[in-house]
Amino acid sequence: GSENFNEMRKKYKEMISTLPKRMPHHPLYDFYQYEGFWYYSGYLEAALCMQQSFNPQPSDIFLCSAPKTGTTWLKALTFSIITRHDDDFTNNPLLTKVPHDCIPFLEVDFLSNPKIVDTVGLSLLATHLPYTILPKSVSHNCKIIYICREPKDTFVSWWHFIQKIEAKITKTPLVTLDEESMFKLFCQGKSGYGPYWDHVLGYWKASVERPDRVFFLKYEDLKEDTLGYVKKLADFMDKPFSKEEQDLGVPQEIVARCDFESLSNLEVNKSGMHRPETTQEISNNVFFRKGKIGDWKNYLTEDMAKLIDDITHDKFQSSGLTF
Ligand code: A3P
Repeated sequence: GSENFNEMRKKYKEMISTLPKRMPHHPLYDFYQYEGFWYYSGYLEAALCMQQSFNPQPSDIFLCSAPKTGTTWLKALTFSIITRHDDDFTNNPLLTKVPHDCIPFLEVDFLSNPKIVDTVGLSLLATHLPYTILPKSVSHNCKIIYICREPKDTFVSWWHFIQKIEAKITKTPLVTLDEESMFKLFCQGKSGYGPYWDHVLGYWKASVERPDRVFFLKYEDLKEDTLGYVKKLADFMDKPFSKEEQDLGVPQEIVARCDFESLSNLEVNKSGMHRPETTQEISNNVFFRKGKIGDWKNYLTEDMAKLIDDITHDKFQSSGLTF
């Protein structure tokens, strides 16, 4: 019952307060290290509770990613694939809600509604949690789609994102954070759900072991052949496009609707708010910046680029994974 649940939360809260801590970028949350990864306290608490009492359906599909790697886009594409039969798209929730508000986000939604999976009636759920902390009920029973991105572009995207959040919460105009220190923290793995490289490796290994259950996708590959991947994603999700749908160009339509220009130009994504009046409140437009490959060239010095590349090389060299 809820009493046990509250007991469990209390127990985990206490445990978390004993973990290594650092000052967060997000002024509202403490930031802790647990089993190799850095988390905001509330998200870690949710993850630990979910390990005990989260029971998804085996048919549920989990969209997993580290922040700033293409989560918004992946949500839009998979949500479109799943809802394509519902209407002719004129009433699709993606037209009036940012993709993040179309799909439950485990770390936030589970604590406020532990029955989230039973009630949403959608088989898609999303999380930024690393593979190793996922509840076994997810990693053992459910399909996973993971998206990742070239580390330098991921850093640059994260850097912009944090600046915007920081400026909003501190109610100050956009201040340039000390890029140097943000950069060092990212390289040391002290970014949300970081180290970024270990996040990628966890899912990569799982996808190598069980390719039928874990679909591993790179942002760059998705850009290169969006249509091809939309078809592959639909197959993986057991929602393949019929011959008729293919003839009608349904996969092409989904690609076009979820394209950076189309999505970012929807009124809701230009002026709407994500989770208004909560601590997660954020303007939807913060999720859409440039959507380009290689934007790091405009921000990183040669030395910075080399440092990230060296880490990437060291971390990934024996894995077979390259960027
Ligand atoms: P940039 O900051 O490089 O522009 P996430 O969704 O995981 O938070 O990642 C955000 C990144 O994805 C941002 O990258 C954002 O612009 C980009 N993005 C958002 N929607 C996209 C889309 N439909 N197609 C391609 N990239 C998109």
